[in-house]
Amino acid sequence: MCGITGYIGNEEASPILIQTLKKLEYRGYDSAGIAVMRNGKIFVRKMKGRINSLEETLLENPLNGQSGIGHTRWATHGEPSDANSHPHTDSGGNIAIVHNGIIENYVKLKQSLQSRGVVFQSDTDTEVIVHIINYFYRSGEGALLQAVMETLKLLNGSYALAVVCSDYPDRIIAVRKDSPLIAGCGAAGSFIASDVPALLEYTRDVYFLNNGEIAVLYEDHIELRGNDGEVILRETARIDWDAGSAEKNNFPHFMLKEIFEQPKAMENALLPRLKKSALNNPVVDFDEIKLDESWAAARRIVIAACGTAYNAAVIGKYAFEHFARIPVAVDLASEYRYRNPIFDKRDIFIVISQSGETADTLAAARLMKQNGARVIAVTNAPGSTLSREADVVVYTYAGPEIAVASTKAFTSQMMCVYLLALELGRFRGHIADEPYKKYITALSAIPAQARRILDKKEIIQRFAARQYNKTKMFFMGRQFDYPVSMESALKLKEISYTHSEAFAAGELKHGPIALIDDGTLVIAFATQKELFEKMISNIREVSSRGASSLVITCDRVDSFNTITDEIFTLPKTEDCFSPLLSVIPAQLFSYYCAVQRGNDPDKPRNLAKSVTVE
Ligand code: AGP
Ligand code: GLU
Repeated sequence: MCGITGYIGNEEASPILIQTLKKLEYRGYDSAGIAVMRNGKIFVRKMKGRINSLEETLLENPLNGQSGIGHTRWATHGEPSDANSHPHTDSGGNIAIVHNGIIENYVKLKQSLQSRGVVFQSDTDTEVIVHIINYFYRSGEGALLQAVMETLKLLNGSYALAVVCSDYPDRIIAVRKDSPLIAGCGAAGSFIASDVPALLEYTRDVYFLNNGEIAVLYEDHIELRGNDGEVILRETARIDWDAGSAEKNNFPHFMLKEIFEQPKAMENALLPRLKKSALNNPVVDFDEIKLDESWAAARRIVIAACGTAYNAAVIGKYAFEHFARIPVAVDLASEYRYRNPIFDKRDIFIVISQSGETADTLAAARLMKQNGARVIAVTNAPGSTLSREADVVVYTYAGPEIAVASTKAFTSQMMCVYLLALELGRFRGHIADEPYKKYITALSAIPAQARRILDKKEIIQRFAARQYNKTKMFFMGRQFDYPVSMESALKLKEISYTHSEAFAAGELKHGPIALIDDGTLVIAFATQKELFEKMISNIREVSSRGASSLVITCDRVDSFNTITDEIFTLPKTEDCFSPLLSVIPAQLFSYYCAVQRGNDPDKPRNLAKSVTVE
């Protein structure tokens, strides 16, 4: 939540801050602001609304100067308003800060500052930080770094912070704890940002700051320091992302572009893990994971994740149990961390996170580690906190995902868990050679099959144009189709703001069917052949109660023809792999409903891409 940025160099700062903020807008977009330093003074421009509005006011009335900090907000404390927007300044306007995170003990700190006569301008938790820095700065010998370090000792919670001070026009101080931050030096100067895409245009050599580390940015270099102030010498990491992958190219939205990138994303997850066996047959082989005695003896797999990554974890449960015959416990990370879970040394612990920065997922991973577990992280973000804290990292290689609604990360997460399940199944002796070969062939065909689905996007577009204003939209399926229903319902509610739920189709009669009426749309997944008859009955049950329906299937089109309004036919694959394909029409449906409703699918209300707060 919230994106922060900072620049000091030989060019005008405001256009650079605006450009970098735009790349971070997916993180939060209820307000935006910048502070620019010129001639020993700090000038702030901030307002409620999108970055475009801030940019317009800056074009009319520019802020000149060659260093500054910027913020795009996702409010946690204090409503979105001009006053609550960042940067926040001390009473004299000599120090300005931007902050991503939450200061948990801000109420106490605020009371103590107020008792010393400090007047607050905002309702944010953030504002206490700048007043405390000012307090230490004034009472010390004017050492800004020292004042920042003293301040950090008083803060509980999470932060990525950037600080400028009018007495120090030659530097920006940045620090992080539990919120992401990177720093990089390029030809135009030094930069900080919450995430890599913001900096790709300016530099590819970056420091991923560790918790507690401080970066002091000068025009021509960056000094890294530890939390006691000691200088740290470290090489930068080279980012080899294609800059275009963080651009919309010719797509109207990032979400549609990312839906279309799925064949490639799935290939990226698959191909590095397909090797040739001694007999020249393709086998799954993860360089990252060496299957050893502990995998053979494992009693259970535990997976924790949030949101879409949680839905991929549920697919993982079905896949591990199907292929490797090992019980799997899947938890929402936000529940796992607080519900006193059971640890057993023989268990295998996995967390899944696109961003690698989700606060609840990180907390779950840390809890696992505290209890002696070896944590395997499935993530899309090299350099993320999770990738650095986990014992083993399985990268999904989907490339940067910018749209708030996750699409290509989901399919690539599923691809990784399927491959892991297959490899483990073979290792534990549960899959014979022939079926194994058949599964690998089926997985290898998926990217091309996904392309064929995307070629038929108009079917879904037309269907969405007819159905988008329904007030209730439900998804149902059985077996592997159930977690896909969960993911589809999440996608739809996120960006179309329609009330949508997922039901295991067999549960319908136990309650949800009471909701069905002629204002309801039901999207049924029917890809599990042995359950076709059951799904036909379920679809009849909803149609006969007046609901409109769409069936997403791969077979038996004739049986569905007479009982549904629309059918979307998928290319044929193994039943267990159908989620890799069936979720695509559902993603397209959510996207087109959102567009029809006039919503911005890339920036849904109340949401942010990376949930770095609880
Ligand atoms: C997905 O569309 C959501 N925006 C959200 O549920 C997301 O999947 C969740 O916040 C977890 O994020 P992560 O994968 O980065 O940990
Ligand atoms: N807590 C700060 C605010 O509400 C920052 C929010 C965030 O980073 O999510 O302004």
